[in-house]
Amino acid sequence: METTATTASRQLSGPATRGLPPGPPLPGAVQTAIWSRQARRLLYACNDRYGDMFTLRIAGEGDWVILADPDAVKEVFTGDPTVFHAGEGNELLAPILGRNSLLVLDEQPHMRQRRLLLPAFHGERMQAYGQAMEEIAAAEIERWPTGTPHKLRPRMQAITLDVILSTVFGVAEGERMAELRRALRGFLDLSTNPRLILPGLLLGPERITGMGFYRRRIGRVDRLIYEEIAARRRAGDLEAREDVLSMLVGARHEDGSPMRDEEMRDELLTLLVAGHETTATSLAWAVERLARHPEKLARLREEVEAGEDEYLTATIQETLRLRPVISIVIRRLTEAAEIGGRELPAGAAAVPSVYLVHRNPEVYPEPERFRPERFLESPPGTYTWIPFGGGVRRCLGASFAQFEMAVVLRELVSRHRIRPANSQPERIFRRAITETPRRDAEVILG
Ligand code: HEM
Repeated sequence: METTATTASRQLSGPATRGLPPGPPLPGAVQTAIWSRQARRLLYACNDRYGDMFTLRIAGEGDWVILADPDAVKEVFTGDPTVFHAGEGNELLAPILGRNSLLVLDEQPHMRQRRLLLPAFHGERMQAYGQAMEEIAAAEIERWPTGTPHKLRPRMQAITLDVILSTVFGVAEGERMAELRRALRGFLDLSTNPRLILPGLLLGPERITGMGFYRRRIGRVDRLIYEEIAARRRAGDLEAREDVLSMLVGARHEDGSPMRDEEMRDELLTLLVAGHETTATSLAWAVERLARHPEKLARLREEVEAGEDEYLTATIQETLRLRPVISIVIRRLTEAAEIGGRELPAGAAAVPSVYLVHRNPEVYPEPERFRPERFLESPPGTYTWIPFGGGVRRCLGASFAQFEMAVVLRELVSRHRIRPANSQPERIFRRAITETPRRDAEVILG
């Protein structure tokens, strides 16, 4: 549902306005502090005050031009990747994920790396991962207590971590898996600690990652990952293996050369960081929303038991619309570019706001209501449903994540009754990367 009329009228309205759109007249440090604690409030307030395009000043990040209009979002996602740099916008992650990480690269180096990873994430590959996902989800859900309040987000994290260990790292049960699991958990807890966001933004990520406690945890993770890569290179059954690491060992750059160990290490950690908490938190939100909408939950259970997937898919889409776990995507401009009829200067960042786009009442009537039916009535639009970003940077794991969410929700609703542990809906709480349910999706299972 794109507003092409607006684009047309813009084209008729002559040359674009130059420069940054208006924004709050507060010092950058103050805006940064508000952003790190109350991002949504700031977005709403600015959207009301300045409209669908406004500028925020974030320490260490520069000028962010926040975009809420689907037409402007389309311009960004279809823009020239040499002008719209996503990797540069993710610079914050480089000291952790490494210089080869798909998330921090741009242009040719990014496309080269993405091409190596893409085959492992094609839709049809999901069947291969499905069985492991099912077994992991079933074993975990089996252990959950009934009749007593239980926080599901950490449990969903346990599922998504094991799914990544199994399908991405290709590590099977046993001591090795337990050790890697412990090391990765320690590393992840550190990288998603909300108390480290503000210092991270103000001091710069290197200052945090240079600290002893950080180096020790990442050092342990690196040692284990490099051991795993070495073992896989020696494995005789590479052809028969279905995990992502085994595919990477067999992958070739365009010049025929294999991936280096550091490249693999950086991509494995990238997949872990990009795929673990995001999927777990989205699952937690799905349960939180469903628990408060018994009639939707009943319909979902009925259809799942009848072996139908339509309502399940719509429920996942609606969860990702209403509770997108990543609220913005960032593209840094390498040169001046026209967006939404305005010429933005080089160096600024064009920042589609997933949050505001998903709450546009013209696209989504009664935007605050949880109503999976809206996606049965009309499918998600490329530039109006953007929980996975878009264009050449669209989330590599989008199919993987939705497939995994479907597997886990199927297992859960067919085994348990679910009701909320508390009468108040859970507020949205920002952790380092994701927007999570404040009480970690606390429910009572029956
Ligand atoms: C519900 C779960 C998930 C959400 C909401 C999510 C969301 C996102 C978003 C918003 C981006 C940035 C897109 C852009 O800049 O346009 C992204 C990128 C990425 N995601 Fe996901 N993600 C999820 C799960 C996963 C999973 C399971 C994996 C892999 C196992 C994954 C791997 C990646 C990678 C590698 C990128 C970087 C792509 C690139 O720069 O080319 N994500 N994701």
